[in-house]
Amino acid sequence: MTPPHSGLFISFEGIDGAGKTTHIEGVVAAFRAQGRVVCQTREPGGTPLAEKLRALVLNDAMDPLTEALLIFAARRDHLQQVIEPALARGEVVVCDRFTDATFAYQGGGRGFDLDTLAQLERMVQGRPGGSLRQPDLTIWFDLDPAVAAERLADARVPDRFESQPVAFFGQVAAGYAARAAAAPSRFERIDAAQSRHQVWQQITRVLVRKGWLAIMVAAHGGPQ
Ligand code: TYD
Repeated sequence: MTPPHSGLFISFEGIDGAGKTTHIEGVVAAFRAQGRVVCQTREPGGTPLAEKLRALVLNDAMDPLTEALLIFAARRDHLQQVIEPALARGEVVVCDRFTDATFAYQGGGRGFDLDTLAQLERMVQGRPGGSLRQPDLTIWFDLDPAVAAERLADARVPDRFESQPVAFFGQVAAGYAARAAAAPSRFERIDAAQSRHQVWQQITRVLVRKGWLAIMVAAHGGPQ
């Protein structure tokens, strides 16, 4: 049976401390309020195997290629087990980070070879006919790394990435900017320095403009 909607794949990106978490919850709630089935997930992770790989990547020291391979191995499992089936059922997949994070953190932040990452991206996200599976929309929380660092200062115990110096996040931010410039129709830049309410308005404006959320739901849904 053909699903009533076509699937939608939305990813959320940005440096640590940019504030995407509460807004992801808001977007999930807004789609559900409109009767859509939402698959809320994250990377690295999203399956039992990928969550194990996440714990390794976030906590254990390893060489950069090993790190990249583990992240893409987790992504492969996540795509096959969760994302592709959910899209085929016509669901809205809301994913906290996807491959742009690998280009930003491993590529920009760690300086890992971008061509190798692009090769892995093709291996893992390649589809019949030669296209790549990418999100339909990437909501990018753009924030000055110094401001993000202040916001993170009283956060919980940092993982291997969160504990990096501000300069690292400057490179990650540049990595995101490069990915956004390379795929401008997929990326929507959100000014994450604004108030929580204004950030929420920016996000709903994008989703309404695309025709994915009705104005009523956009005006009342989401975090206050
Ligand atoms: P994050 O998504 O911020 O989750 P939490 O809010 O629970 O900390 O943490 C995931 C971390 O993993 C983040 O610091 C970025 C990093 N990461 C990479 O380095 N490469 C990747 O490809 C992905 C998806 C995440």
